[in-house]
Amino acid sequence: MEKHLLDIAYYSTTVSELNKDVQRLREIAENQLDMSYSPYSEFQVGAAILLENDEIFGGCNQENASYPLCLCAERVALYSAGTRYPNMPIQAMFLTVRNKKKKLDKPASPCGACRQVISEFAEKTGKPFPIYINTVDSDTVIMFPNADALLPFSFNKEYLS
Ligand code: THU
Repeated sequence: MEKHLLDIAYYSTTVSELNKDVQRLREIAENQLDMSYSPYSEFQVGAAILLENDEIFGGCNQENASYPLCLCAERVALYSAGTRYPNMPIQAMFLTVRNKKKKLDKPASPCGACRQVISEFAEKTGKPFPIYINTVDSDTVIMFPNADALLPFSFNKEYLS
């Protein structure tokens, strides 16, 4: 059997070191936390997406008493941007979280389903974009330079044709 290695880089930084555009995106993602409908998990997730035309779309997680119907913040934000601008490239995506039951010592990673959706947005718009993750409880920001860094081996349309 042959061993294959992936070369995946991600970066860590702090909120104060972010450039102005990303700072603004972080603020919008953080504002989304207050709109999160998450009475069951009490885990709030806020997302913000900066499009190529400089418009920003936000989103937050939406839960339901029928648990499998919950929708993650990432998909709310991406699908909402996709509804208005179906093929507009994305400049950057920012995610932040707040757990109402405890302080978090590090940013939370997007779930696998959202990674797959993030991946398809990068692919369909033809432009990779960075994904920043943060939590309101910590100054640390992790930056994944593109969707492949979050989800290597994503499923994509090339298998379907
Ligand atoms: N959640 C997100 O919004 N994004 C993720 O990537 C992971 C989880 C939400 C779903 C649910 O409302 C709560 O966080 C707890 O799983």
